[in-house]
Amino acid sequence: MGRVIAITNQKGGVGKTTTTINLGAALAQKEQYTLLIDSDPQGALSIALGIPAYDLEFTLYSILTDTRIPVAAVTHHVRPHLDVVPANIDLAGAELQLVAMMGREYVLRDALANLRDKYNFILIDCPPSLGLLTVNALAAADEILVPLQCEFLAMRGLDALIDVVARVQRRLNPKLKLIGIVPTMYNPRRIHARAVLDKVRATYPNKVLNVTIKESVRFAEAPEQRRTIFEIDANNEGAAAYRELAEVILNAQPE
Ligand SMILES: Nc1ncnc2c1ncn2[C@@H]1O[C@H](COP(=O)(O)OP(=O)(O)OP(=O)(O)O)[C@@H](O)[C@H]1O
Ligand SMILES: [Mg+2]
Repeated sequence: MGRVIAITNQKGGVGKTTTTINLGAALAQKEQYTLLIDSDPQGALSIALGIPAYDLEFTLYSILTDTRIPVAAVTHHVRPHLDVVPANIDLAGAELQLVAMMGREYVLRDALANLRDKYNFILIDCPPSLGLLTVNALAAADEILVPLQCEFLAMRGLDALIDVVARVQRRLNPKLKLIGIVPTMYNPRRIHARAVLDKVRATYPNKVLNVTIKESVRFAEAPEQRRTIFEIDANNEGAAAYRELAEVILNAQPE
């Protein structure tokens, strides 16, 4: 049975898309059949993996607004063991259209239901908001992974996120589990970053994973070349960290 993992944090620019792409690529390299779902109208994940998302007629939007369209009809095969359901700006409209739909929180869950036999992992890249797209991802997921930029302002949104997760667990998806918080863009030379990491570890004991993704300009360069971190610099420390994260996820027994 495949595991569905939502990569989520309502704070923008904390490394959600980078984590979805590179964790997905690392799992695929370990021969895990992996599907990435771009659930952000910015379409950054799709574009970073070389899909010309802005020109596409069939995207995640199609699945969410017409339940007769199967996921396979909008899926792109991008690398060995790695598939993508792309998104573009159309998805911003889905958020509004979902409001009027019956069972609006469960549209994504139902669409993914018969894919669990086909994939070992389905990773959902959430948008930087707590709207219906994120709620659909949390209702569809078995687990969530929270990338956290090691900065004061990024830390402040965590309580709100943990509240939403608790509400989703109560009302929509009692089985939802937190895999953990993964610190991103960490620069160990900065006192501030070290202090933030210590504070998060103290505030959320046992919730912060031992893998830390360091800051590296290679992460900004990779999407421009439509490549993963492994394809531009397999020996990069960041590449090693995402391989390690994939190992942690493979061995995870979420509480
Ligand atoms: N470890 C890292 N070191 C340096 N830069 C990084 C790292 N991870 C991500 N970045 C860069 O930071 C920016 C934001 O990352 P990313 O797009 O993954 O965040 P996001 O949370 O998905 O953003 P959004 O909320 O807009 O969807 C990007 O330019 C990305 O290339
Ligand atoms: Mg993103």
